[in-house]
Amino acid sequence: MNFEEELNIKTSEINSIIADYLPKETKYQLRITEAANYSVNAGGKRIRPMLLMEVYKLCGGNDLNKIKAFMTALECIHTYSLVHDDLPAMDNDDYRRGMLTTHKKYGEDFGVLAGDALLNYAYELMLHDMDNTESSEDLKRAVKAADIIARKAGIYGMVGGQSLDVYLTGKPMNEDELDFIFRLKTGALIEAAFMAGATLAGADDLTVTELEKAGGLVGVAFQIQDDILDITSTQEVLGKPIRSDEKNHKTTYVTLYGFEKAKADVAEMSDKALTIIKNTGDNEFLEQLICRLINRKK
Ligand code: IPE
Ligand code: IPE
Ligand code: MG
Ligand code: MG
Ligand code: MG
Repeated sequence: MNFEEELNIKTSEINSIIADYLPKETKYQLRITEAANYSVNAGGKRIRPMLLMEVYKLCGGNDLNKIKAFMTALECIHTYSLVHDDLPAMDNDDYRRGMLTTHKKYGEDFGVLAGDALLNYAYELMLHDMDNTESSEDLKRAVKAADIIARKAGIYGMVGGQSLDVYLTGKPMNEDELDFIFRLKTGALIEAAFMAGATLAGADDLTVTELEKAGGLVGVAFQIQDDILDITSTQEVLGKPIRSDEKNHKTTYVTLYGFEKAKADVAEMSDKALTIIKNTGDNEFLEQLICRLINRKK
């Protein structure tokens, strides 16, 4: 099987895990559940749950039942961040994952609520799952993983990054501020994927710290590539509008450093992350996935 086939199989596997865990649509909760599930079901690359799963394997984990709730929770948090990122008060974009954005389809009120619902649901999933742990050791790992995900999603993570991003929109921004934004708005959730995967597999603290670094490098490289694609891709390929950054007068990695350095830095950061991964263990698919992210077209 080549990498592309394996990637497709794993993506389908993750999609069916997510589908199993999504909230069920009922009577008076029908509209909010539909709105929340709409954005998750619209698709997406599922990079964060995939990284969590592959790092779990890298660290010797072999029971997917122990990580499914965490994989889904992470994708719910990521999806909520996109739903809110697209709102008129933030980036004001009309398309996401090849479909109308949630607020365009269900109205701004339900765009806000669908995001709230997904964020909260992530914690419902992780906490509920702790009831099913088989041993006190597994419970400890689950608590630690949930703690990591919560922290990396919040003020000291994704929300903190998004906050400075919107605060400085249309204003001058220096290198340090851009670095802070990238490490938090995108780096943090990818760090969470690496760290939670390692933690759930029982990796020691030193390994988790090393993998946090790898996740941070992959995360920042991922956002630089997102900034590049915002200029070079098409809406058909990306599934979201291009030139959104320019429309919003955002400083991006490309406007600050230029196109060539942006491309070179994506490759260099990914390479550094690969070194850490190879020093940790053996997972060829994960290595190929990181290489693929450097040249991703969407
Ligand atoms: C988009 O994330 C937002 C960024 C952090 C760059 P993805 O590129 O992972 O979006 P999906 O999940 O595939 O739609
Ligand atoms: C957003 O960055 C990162 C998030 C935390 C949602 P962007 O605003 O560049 O993401 P896209 O391009 O809309 O996906
Ligand atoms: Mg944004
Ligand atoms: Mg955006
Ligand atoms: Mg972008």
